[in-house]
Amino acid sequence: MSALTQSAAWQALLAHHAANRQLSMRQLFGDDPQRFRRFSVRLDDMLLDYSKNLVTEQTMALLFALARQADVEGWRDRMLAGEKINCTEHRAVLHTALRAAVDPQHAPILVDGRDVLPGVRSVLEKMRVFSESVRSGAWRGYGGKAITDVVNIGIGGSFLGPLMVCEALNSYSGSLKTHFVSNIDSTDLLEKLEPLDPETTLFIVASKTFTTQETLMNARSARDWFLRSAGDVKHVAKHFVALSTNAKEVTAFGIDTANMFEFSDWVGGRYSLWSAIGLSIMLAVGMDNFEELLRGAHEMDVHFSTAPLEQNMPVIMALLGVWYNNFHEITKQALLPYDHALEHFVPYFQQADMESNGKRVDRNGVPVDYSTGPILWGGVGTNGQHAYFQILHQGTQMVPADFIASVQTHYPLGEHHATLLSNFFAQTEALMRGKNEAEARAELQAAGMDEGAIAALLPHKVFEGNKPTNSILFRQLTPRTLGRLIALYEHKIFVQGIIWNINSFDQWGVELGKQLASHIQAELRSGAEITAHDSSTNGLIAHYNALK
Ligand code: F6P
Repeated sequence: MSALTQSAAWQALLAHHAANRQLSMRQLFGDDPQRFRRFSVRLDDMLLDYSKNLVTEQTMALLFALARQADVEGWRDRMLAGEKINCTEHRAVLHTALRAAVDPQHAPILVDGRDVLPGVRSVLEKMRVFSESVRSGAWRGYGGKAITDVVNIGIGGSFLGPLMVCEALNSYSGSLKTHFVSNIDSTDLLEKLEPLDPETTLFIVASKTFTTQETLMNARSARDWFLRSAGDVKHVAKHFVALSTNAKEVTAFGIDTANMFEFSDWVGGRYSLWSAIGLSIMLAVGMDNFEELLRGAHEMDVHFSTAPLEQNMPVIMALLGVWYNNFHEITKQALLPYDHALEHFVPYFQQADMESNGKRVDRNGVPVDYSTGPILWGGVGTNGQHAYFQILHQGTQMVPADFIASVQTHYPLGEHHATLLSNFFAQTEALMRGKNEAEARAELQAAGMDEGAIAALLPHKVFEGNKPTNSILFRQLTPRTLGRLIALYEHKIFVQGIIWNINSFDQWGVELGKQLASHIQAELRSGAEITAHDSSTNGLIAHYNALK
């Protein structure tokens, strides 16, 4: 058994779970009219209501004890101070420094004895100058025309964050149109290029390493497409910029480092939208809104680093996740934003959460004997209600769910927003209360159904309820609120990684497929009969060769 599962705090939670298997949320709400007040926290207008969870005050006390036992506060402080907590890559983890840079009074943050904040501020300034020049039309393409379209070429963290934020802040965008190409599938690139004019298109090649196969192949094909119109390679300078940590590879690709926006290896790919990787966001919404995004995230960082654990939003959310994952043994988590602008919030956090905490060994390389990161899935309400909510209400699996919504919409239209929110409130209530047999029977009787028909239909009409949800509600999805919301989930992931004693900041698991694909690519090129693999892989390649 690992030290974690043997520990006093873990064992206490196991015993508590065993003794409270019958906990009923209906009953808990019935017994305690103050439950909402007791189990909710706020940061300004952002409310986290976690009262609809299978917890009592004792559960929470035991979970906070687990956090203290894992020294969450110590690890948090080490991360924020720039210590190299990414132990397999020997790197600091400092996306928080990118946000701290908006506070002119912020104390230095040292990596290898040097303050990183001046460098962050100087890249921000370079981004500001560039984005203002493009947005104002001063930056001209090779034919003398202003830029109208921006194409971000990148994948993973160099794609999902910028895409998610550009969509979420669509109501703040100016006239530039942003497009995102990520997939190696040529359909993605060609579909995006089809309506564009090379003379007025700016390409952003976004890659932390600048070695990612998909991004480099797409960038080369985009450059070929561009040069077919522009002719002279000297025009590339006006139409291609790079966002990277790797100046050598950027130069090798043919982009002048004057057109490169740098960041450091202490920014993880999936935590990089706050860095130069956010250039497409700045081009879309402008510097002031980008700074507001940073400011909001910084406010959440300050909350995370100063609020006592019992009032600390990311800590509370992390602990609830651990409660279900490790004690209820539920390894799924749904994310359900009731906000159409947050359509890409789920894919973004699928990478952030599952790439961070999808680990099977602890920080020392020892296999763990407990579940780590959950499978995260979901999508926007109300669409989900007409797709997968059936399984949430009446399936055999319990799936804890986070509901997220803003009180005010940027696009008011009659009763739409109130109707959206009434669905939000109704769903969390329905998941908690369910509908028992007596209630279902009374409904069927009131509808005039005879007893025989009622007996047949009744089991199908019962909802068990007792399904846990968090509700996150704020005034409006502004850049500042979005910054807070993203940072909230980032820190939740961090806290869980600390409790599970894993390194949340590497991603070796994506390597094997990449290695094998490069061998197979050479085999496909040869067209020869392939026998080197298992019979399935050989058979699939033979079928491909026969049909191509
Ligand atoms: O898929 C693995 C990964 O390394 C992600 O962590 C990263 O966000 C993505 O690839 C893209 O990497 P890069 O920005 O270096 O192109």
